[in-house]
Amino acid sequence: MKLFDKSKTFLGLAPMAGFTDYAFRKICALCGADFTVTEMISSKGLYYNNERTGSLMSICRESGVGVQIFGSEERSLNYAASYVAKEVSPDFIDINMGCPTPKIVNSGDGSALLKDLDKALCCARAVISGAGDVPVTVKLRLGWENALPELPDFVKRLEDEGIAAVFVHGRTSRQMYRPGVDYGAIKRIKERVNIPVFANGDITSPEKAKEVLSITGADGLLIGRGSLGNPFIFGQIKEYLQSGSYRTPTKEEITELAIAQLNEAVKDKGDRRASVEARSQIAHYLKGMSGAAEKRKMLSEATSSDEIINILKL
Ligand SMILES: Cc1cc2nc3c(=O)[nH]c(=O)nc-3n(C[C@H](O)[C@H](O)[C@H](O)COP(=O)(O)O)c2cc1C
Repeated sequence: MKLFDKSKTFLGLAPMAGFTDYAFRKICALCGADFTVTEMISSKGLYYNNERTGSLMSICRESGVGVQIFGSEERSLNYAASYVAKEVSPDFIDINMGCPTPKIVNSGDGSALLKDLDKALCCARAVISGAGDVPVTVKLRLGWENALPELPDFVKRLEDEGIAAVFVHGRTSRQMYRPGVDYGAIKRIKERVNIPVFANGDITSPEKAKEVLSITGADGLLIGRGSLGNPFIFGQIKEYLQSGSYRTPTKEEITELAIAQLNEAVKDKGDRRASVEARSQIAHYLKGMSGAAEKRKMLSEATSSDEIINILKL
């Protein structure tokens, strides 16, 4: 599949550390996501040959796939990009310029790169040179403290360096996840560059997806939290954009999908680890179901897939 060719509205699963593991990415791909992105992977971790970092990169090919790396040191970013390109050969490598969590920004990584756009550009250059033929994308927020008026020009500079597409979360870093996504700022970027621009932030329904596409003129959408417990959203958005309506899954279909995700996780990580790690993900599938609070409590103590499946079927 050729990604980012503007031939259609691509829908991607946003990277979400702790959630977008192999199993969830595969389920979202099967439900209509055109591409998925791994959880962020430390370029320094790869540079110093960290095994767990390596295991985060197990990828599924049911859709397009991107591997996201983070860091602010050109040497390790360059190494990480060439390692990922050779070992994994993904459809694209994404640079994280959006993560606001203290652990990441205190090392100058993630959205802290937006404090020094010249440095951010050097980092992008280092990744592009390491990635070889693999396209490189950037996922960014609107700025550090305040939305940067020069952001469209910065994205243009990224384009001139060879960045293949950008994913724009319409919030500043300081805003974390507080309400108020500035879709107008995404539109201004879209108007300034030729590469595909993907809008991201608070897209939780097909109606909202259509509205965001219309406000921003974006080439595609990146969906994060709206997909948790609801991978159906990708297919629903496609259906809605095409026909103006979409189908809501039954309780049985939701339960079936939750079990399918759990089974994939078990294949990937083994029963106990998969079950413990999947508890927070499976909890999202219970939203709106009868006895959800009680089931969530039971889920929080489950340590095997059998237990989780029994709770889901209650
Ligand atoms: C739990 C969680 C983990 C996240 N991890 C990452 C990450 O690893 N890399 C990244 O670029 N963004 C990460 N994000 C940000 C999302 O990719 C996305 O930009 C943000 O949630 C806004 O989109 P949404 O409103 O559709 O969720 C994370 C978000 C959440 C909620």
